Amino acid sequence: MGILSARKVGMLLALFWMGTLCYFWLPNHIPDFLDLRSKSSVKSRHDVLPRLHNSNHVPNQIRMHQLNLSSGHNDSDVIHVCITSDGNTLGGMVALINSIISNTKHHVKFHLVTDEDSVNHLGNWIRASSLKEIDFEVREFPESWVSGKIKIRGGRQELGSPLNYARYYLPKLFPALKEKIVFIDDDCIVQGDIVELYKTEIKKGDLAAFSEDCKGMNKRLSRLSNVYAEFLDFKNKHVQERNISPSACSFNTGLFITDLSNWHKENITGQLEYWMDLNTREEVYGNERGGGGSQPPMMLVFYNRISPIDTLWHVRYLGWTSGTSYSKQFIAHAKLLHWNGKFKPWGRIAQHSDVWDKYFISDPSGKFRPIRRG
Ligand SMILES: *[C@@H]1O[C@H](CO)[C@@H](O)[C@H](O)[C@H]1NC(C)=O
Ligand SMILES: *[C@@H]1O[C@H](CO)[C@@H](O)[C@H](O)[C@H]1NC(C)=O
Ligand SMILES: *[C@@H]1O[C@H](CO)[C@@H](O)[C@H](O)[C@H]1NC(C)=O
Repeated sequence: MGILSARKVGMLLALFWMGTLCYFWLPNHIPDFLDLRSKSSVKSRHDVLPRLHNSNHVPNQIRMHQLNLSSGHNDSDVIHVCITSDGNTLGGMVALINSIISNTKHHVKFHLVTDEDSVNHLGNWIRASSLKEIDFEVREFPESWVSGKIKIRGGRQELGSPLNYARYYLPKLFPALKEKIVFIDDDCIVQGDIVELYKTEIKKGDLAAFSEDCKGMNKRLSRLSNVYAEFLDFKNKHVQERNISPSACSFNTGLFITDLSNWHKENITGQLEYWMDLNTREEVYGNERGGGGSQPPMMLVFYNRISPIDTLWHVRYLGWTSGTSYSKQFIAHAKLLHWNGKFKPWGRIAQHSDVWDKYFISDPSGKFRPIRRG
């Protein structure tokens, strides 16, 4: 009896001691694990809770940093990638991110842009997946920036989605970013090391690197919609004043490498807005095949000032037909695949969608589902 109660008292004392330890010690240490951004040491539990609480209430901007903060990496070694997507194609963005980080050892920082309704959806998706340690930020695209500026005459109405124009506003979306950046459409998969693409040279005087569409395989696949005449109305006097050759080669706006400080200096956003705005008042974009969308203003602004991208780094037109345009062997060697066109890799019939499936991560909320047979 005496021994037992002595044991009980001992256990109670031990529990009390541990409780005291937890009460005084843990509050000073837990926050440093939870809030990786805080560099200053935290004084008490009450300093922490409101701050953690606040960081959950920044709807327009979610930031997250790689866990290895002490690494002191050299900022000039970071590869900046921008991807934009609306709620309907969010799965494309997730698969693309996964493909990029699966094929590089370099530090990639993702600058992601989506619509108001998808900001939290995307953040939750990333944090619940194997992508949770990537370095990324998410911005909401304010649709008011383009309201009243989009006018699609005939053609494909889906090209009028405001998110299609987010690429015009990179310096405004990411004011702190002055570096080189790669913009990639969300219907792409990267199979090479992104550092090679990032190193694409932008020649002196040029504004960006793009892929032209009037040579080789791309000429055949694009079936003639590969010159300026297909996208612009050359009867418009403002277009005429630009002195553009109607037979000049058009380029694909779904992939480009540019320098954001130069973009700002050259007022590229202002120029793109000028053409968008003008097109709402008079016909600038020409025929229905061009269809409007974000392509024609870019062709007007970047005319004659583009550097090339390595052809293996932009294998495109995979979404042009449901049949196969490329052999499996060729696809395996491509560094970047682009399903531009109607047949998206998450849709029912698309060529080589097995490659895309390898990188797709299912949506924990179940909102985005690729359509698959059987
Ligand atoms: C953290 O970064 C340092 C310096 O770059 C590196 O040596 C180390 O391996 C990294 N640790 C992890 C866990 O990635
Ligand atoms: C980072 O890299 C650049 C270019 O390679 C170099 O000039 C700079 O000194 C480096 N900075 C640090 C802190 O290592
Ligand atoms: C940028 O370009 C637009 C269109 O040409 C022009 O209206 C605007 O004043 C320019 N802004 C600056 C700061 O030069």
